[in-house]
Amino acid sequence: MLYGADYNPDQWPEEVWDDDVARMREAGVTTVSLGIFAWSRLQPGPDEWDFGWLDRVIDLLHAGGIGVNLATATASPPPWVTVRHPDVLAADENGAPYWHGSRQHHSPSSPTYRRLAAELVRRIAERYAHHPAVVMWHVDNELGCHLPVEYGDSARDAFRAWLRERYGTVAALDAAWGADFWSQRYGSFDEVFPPRKAPYSRNPAQVLDYRRFMSDTWLSLFRMQADIIRAAGATQPISTNMMGPFPHADYASWAPHIDVITDDCYPDPSSPTRVRDIAFQRDLVRSLKRGTPWLLMEQATDAVNWRPTNPSKRDGQLAAETAQAIGRGADGVFFFQWRQSRAGSEKFHSAMLPHAGTRTRTWESVVELGSALAALPELPAPSDSPVALVFDWENWWAVEGADHPGTVDYLGVVRAWYGALHRRGVMVDVVRPEDVDGRYRLAIAPFLYLMRDPGVAALRAFAAEGGVLAAGPFTDVVDESDRFRDGGFLTQLGPILGVAFEDFRPLLPPTLGDAAARAGAASVAAASPAEEAAVAFGSAEFAGTFFAEALFADDAAVLATFASGPSAGRPAITRRAHGSGSAWYLATQPDERGLDLVVARLLAESGAESVLGIAPPPGVELAQRGDLVTIINHGEGEARIPELGLALGPQEHAYVRQDGAA
Ligand code: GLA
Repeated sequence: MLYGADYNPDQWPEEVWDDDVARMREAGVTTVSLGIFAWSRLQPGPDEWDFGWLDRVIDLLHAGGIGVNLATATASPPPWVTVRHPDVLAADENGAPYWHGSRQHHSPSSPTYRRLAAELVRRIAERYAHHPAVVMWHVDNELGCHLPVEYGDSARDAFRAWLRERYGTVAALDAAWGADFWSQRYGSFDEVFPPRKAPYSRNPAQVLDYRRFMSDTWLSLFRMQADIIRAAGATQPISTNMMGPFPHADYASWAPHIDVITDDCYPDPSSPTRVRDIAFQRDLVRSLKRGTPWLLMEQATDAVNWRPTNPSKRDGQLAAETAQAIGRGADGVFFFQWRQSRAGSEKFHSAMLPHAGTRTRTWESVVELGSALAALPELPAPSDSPVALVFDWENWWAVEGADHPGTVDYLGVVRAWYGALHRRGVMVDVVRPEDVDGRYRLAIAPFLYLMRDPGVAALRAFAAEGGVLAAGPFTDVVDESDRFRDGGFLTQLGPILGVAFEDFRPLLPPTLGDAAARAGAASVAAASPAEEAAVAFGSAEFAGTFFAEALFADDAAVLATFASGPSAGRPAITRRAHGSGSAWYLATQPDERGLDLVVARLLAESGAESVLGIAPPPGVELAQRGDLVTIINHGEGEARIPELGLALGPQEHAYVRQDGAA
């Protein structure tokens, strides 16, 4: 179990470093991420290099038995870079530059930036590739975090090259983008620009491709650096820290290029959905490389500095959130950062070693956590889950596009489904449609508006081969270029679902309208098959949200019917049997109560079970990795889990082997 933090000794005089290492040992720190923002100290000027201080600090850490996750320091180019080379600066959608004075102000497409970054990485890698302290490499930092999309001239040129590669000919580009609409037909790739500021709605296929391009661009920057590190002879794992469900990077496409998944997670202590959202993020990153442990690369010991108000964590919350990570596959836990900064934008951000010193709750909990982690035995590899929750970045970009029948909160909806499974203590993999396979018993695909052909094939095969598939609403609407397919909607999944599509019939988004006005109340009117009567669904009522689609259930049983709203009397949930499996369609997004009812039915039908078959009491989280079961009480009072003979106080957790050993 790795334990540590970002370490920024370049912000401190050398006299402090000895104390740092001594304190790290006291806290049980095993590893630190070093030099993430050190470019201006490593290369103070175009022809000046200074590695002496880094040599000394790495040796000092090594002598103290502390490993180094060595950063490539490329995340914030020094002022001399952008003064000498203004083409390094990123630009907004008006083409106006972002200036230095913060961080991440560079264009990842800039050839000058890439040349300078490559030189920096080469020197660092050649110098330290064989240093015994270096256990891992930390490429850049949160690629794309502050400037996920930029529109400058380097991006323009790189976008054109990316499009040439993707489409081959400009005729193919025109066809994919539907360029005959509004006279947008291009005569050559050189006429194409990033989707910069325009008077009205921009071509949705162009916008979608630009998001693909930006995600690919950040990935290519990672790969450039990883190649340089390898070429220098380094054999340690190479990673870059992700940000869970970060909207702008298709991490599922990045994962194969990254040796070990590392994730940063800063839950809002005041969010009512905090526990669920953290668990979702843990499962999302775990699912990027199924069966492989990952590292929690950044969390906060206490408050952050960057929300309008930054409340403290409650007592025990840090340990409980850390247990969520370990129980869901983490083999290491790190913080931002080791010693609280004394100047700069993040001086109020908590750290392992607070500015107020060691007579603090934070320091006590950091030391306590260090010794608890050191006492853990070897942990099993994460295992597959019985349920696949389909989540797809390209679909996210497309489904939330402009000019649609209704406004969709894709992440919100996916997390709502996850919440219903989480409340029941069921383990969930969060995967792309093409990754749904026979390992799962149940697959849920909400709002899968954009479907690529491999995803279509996987979902069809899953339902045909005995899985239980639940899809919809607003699903199977466009192809990968955001074009309608010939023949209407639900053209790909309709045959296995046994339904035909008439109309979308949007409802006001749940956060905007009052509950009554958004209508769409669905009730189970009839046709609950006898074997499914065991779950309380038949006489229940719940509200549908976002859409009340008009469907024809040509070859499917109607499990729920709209009782009011624009599709009153029409099917709300349908089910078509396939041998031992089934394919369900939801013409609406159930509210929380509805999700609980539907999920209960889906679990019963698919045979997907909760962890140890236990129904957790409210506030209690169950997680499984291999034969290790983690039980966390996030509630305010004591929680009893009689099946395990356990009683946990608020924020307490326990690890139990599947055979019951504590
Ligand atoms: C991000 C960055 C860190 C730091 C923290 C503060 O995760 O990677 O450098 O800014 O946020 O929460």
